[in-house]
Amino acid sequence: MNFLQSTLNYLRLRQPPAVRFLHITILCLVLSQILVSNFMGFTDTGEVSNKVIKYYATWIHMLSGLTLIPLSLLFVYLEYRRYGIRYFFPYFYGEFSQLKKDLQTLLHFDLPEPEAYGLAAIIKGLGMGALLLVAFSGGVWFLSWNLLPSWAHSVKEIHETLTGLIEAYVIGHGGVGLVHLFFYWKNKSRH
Ligand code: HEM
Ligand code: HEM
Repeated sequence: MNFLQSTLNYLRLRQPPAVRFLHITILCLVLSQILVSNFMGFTDTGEVSNKVIKYYATWIHMLSGLTLIPLSLLFVYLEYRRYGIRYFFPYFYGEFSQLKKDLQTLLHFDLPEPEAYGLAAIIKGLGMGALLLVAFSGGVWFLSWNLLPSWAHSVKEIHETLTGLIEAYVIGHGGVGLVHLFFYWKNKSRH
C-alpha cells in the first residue's frame, strides 16, 4: 500500500465522509493561503496591484479566504456536533487526567494517541479557534477595504499577526499528524 492510500485509509477509519472532505479541503486551502500570501501586492492607493503575478495572487487569496469562512464554520459545527465543547476544551471543566497521561507518554519519548480530552484534542480546539480568527479577520479586512478604507490598514495588520497562530498550528498539528500517518503506513506495509 502506498503512503497516500494508507493516509486515506487512516482518515477513513477516524472521520466520517463530510469531516474527511472538509478537513482535506481546508488543509489544502490553508496551505495555499500561506503560500500565495507571499506574492500578493497592492498599489500605494490601496488598489490591487496590476502586475500579473501580484494581481492573480491577491485575488486568489481573497477568494479562497472568503470561501474558507463558510467551510470553517461548517467544519467547526460538525466537530462540535460530534464531540461537544468539553472534548476540545477540557481545562475549562477541570478535566486534566488525559492531558497528564499524554504528557507522561511524551516524557517517555513516545507519541500519545489522539484521545478525548487529551493533548491532541486540546490543540485541535485551539487550532479551530485560530482558523476562525484568521478567516474572520481576513473577511473583516475585506469589508473595511471596500466600505471603510481608513480602517483597512490596521485591520490588515491584525489579520497578518493572527496568521502566526494558524502557521504554528499547521506546523504542530500537521507535523505530528504526518508522524502518525508515517507510523501507520510502516505498520500496515509490514503486515
Ligand atoms: C483561513 C484563511 C486565511 C489564511 C490562512 C490567510 C493567511 C494569510 C497570510 C499567511 C498572510 C501573510 C501575512 C504576513 O505577511 O505576515 C496573509 C495576508 C493577507 N491576507 Fe490572508 N489569510 C486568510 C484569509 C484572508 C481573507 C478572507 C482575506 C480577504 C478577503 C485576506 C486578505 C489578506 C490580505 C489583504 C493580506 C495582506 C497582503 C499584503 O499586503 O501583502 N486573507 N493572509
Ligand atoms: C488549518 C488546518 C487544519 C485544521 C483546522 C485541522 C483540524 C483537525 C481536526 C479538528 C481533526 C480531528 C478530526 C476528527 O477526528 O473528527 C483533525 C485530524 C487530523 N488531522 Fe488535521 N487539521 C488541519 C491541518 C492538518 C494538516 C496540515 C495535517 C497534516 C497532514 C493534518 C493531519 C491530521 C490527521 C492525520 C488527523 C487524524 C488524526 C487525529 O485525529 O489527530 N491536519 N484535524
